Amino acid sequence: MTSRRLRAAIVGCGTIAPTHARALLALADDVELVACSDVVPERAAALADAFGIEARPYADVLADPTIDLVSVCTPSGLHAEVGVPALLAGKHVVVEKPMEVTEEACDRLLAAQRTSGTHLAVISQHRFDDGTRRLREVLASGALGRVVAADCRVPWHRTQEYYDAEAWRGTWALDGGGALINQGIHTVDLLLWACGPAVSVDGAIATVAHEVEVEDVASAAITFAGGTLATLMASTATAPGLPARLALHGTDGAVVLEGDCVTLLAVRGQDVQQGQPTTDALQVATGGTRSAERGVTDGSEATAWGEAHRRQLLDLVHAVREDRPPLVDGEAGRAAVGLVRAVYRSAREGTRITL
Ligand SMILES: NC(=O)c1ccc[n+]([C@@H]2O[C@H](COP(=O)([O-])OP(=O)(O)OC[C@H]3O[C@@H](n4cnc5c(N)ncnc54)[C@H](O)[C@@H]3O)[C@@H](O)[C@H]2O)c1
Repeated sequence: MTSRRLRAAIVGCGTIAPTHARALLALADDVELVACSDVVPERAAALADAFGIEARPYADVLADPTIDLVSVCTPSGLHAEVGVPALLAGKHVVVEKPMEVTEEACDRLLAAQRTSGTHLAVISQHRFDDGTRRLREVLASGALGRVVAADCRVPWHRTQEYYDAEAWRGTWALDGGGALINQGIHTVDLLLWACGPAVSVDGAIATVAHEVEVEDVASAAITFAGGTLATLMASTATAPGLPARLALHGTDGAVVLEGDCVTLLAVRGQDVQQGQPTTDALQVATGGTRSAERGVTDGSEATAWGEAHRRQLLDLVHAVREDRPPLVDGEAGRAAVGLVRAVYRSAREGTRITL
């Protein structure tokens, strides 16, 4: 157990890096953000200037024994190339989602973590939203009865310019796929967290609105080991872009997470959300709806952008101190990648995939 501040570095200084920088700086009692690296030195210099840290070559970061924690914000298909040497150098590592773009690459990260004995976390920040915590509480209370069905939708929208802005986006090699592995994976992780391991997948994918080699719409029917049947849809072609939605339907009730808020909780015989007098009838309570993308709220509390990253990085700090796995560990990251890849394989082979 260590109580001194962890010294951290960020590798990959693009779009998501400032979110990591702000989150790590907000953990100043526990973490000291000291350095950043990028294969494009100007990008590292810009992040270093913006946050008062030092831009350094990655080899220096790896060789510096005073750096304890590396935050990997490179393109998805380079998470193992960057993360494995950091783990083997004895550092704790957090990689952005998805963990990697193949199960084999995820396994390289897991093997390095086992060798080093340090900690590995995979960003899935929506696990730390207030709404997701509420959903978990409802599930854990047993109020839904047996969860027999789940419905997971990510009807998002990305422009062609989004894909054109960085050469790795929308490629099988470095993005690992399209709407499902990049955008949908957040909700796939929540689905796995709620329903447990999946046992079979029937998937379909299509490219309908972008000039990319990967899918911009994906759907799947999934059977879970516990018996839950789920449907899944993720897209970047669906205008104007609506909040991601996860609905869990049980024998005694249902809960719906939309964006990062619980927007509906309906439980037989009790009103969980509003504490109203109960009857034998099914009580329905609806919360606020919110579009994170448009910043609209009408009552229910949304988690501000960046706050969930801060909470997840704090969980990693506690995991290091308590020498326990972080909430979203390498196994969870690999499970999400495995489910996504089963959808792709099923779509390609036109057959059901057994996991
Ligand atoms: N959690 C979220 O909500 C969220 C949001 C956006 C992106 N992401 C994830 O973050 C990762 C990065 O996405 P982005 O949009 O910031 O990408 P980006 O293209 O904007 O930035 C990636 C950066 O990595 C650098 N880089 C490439 N190879 C490198 C290497 N070998 N060593 C060091 N630097 C290298 C690039 O020069 C670039 O500056 C992806 O895995 C993506 O899925 C997560």
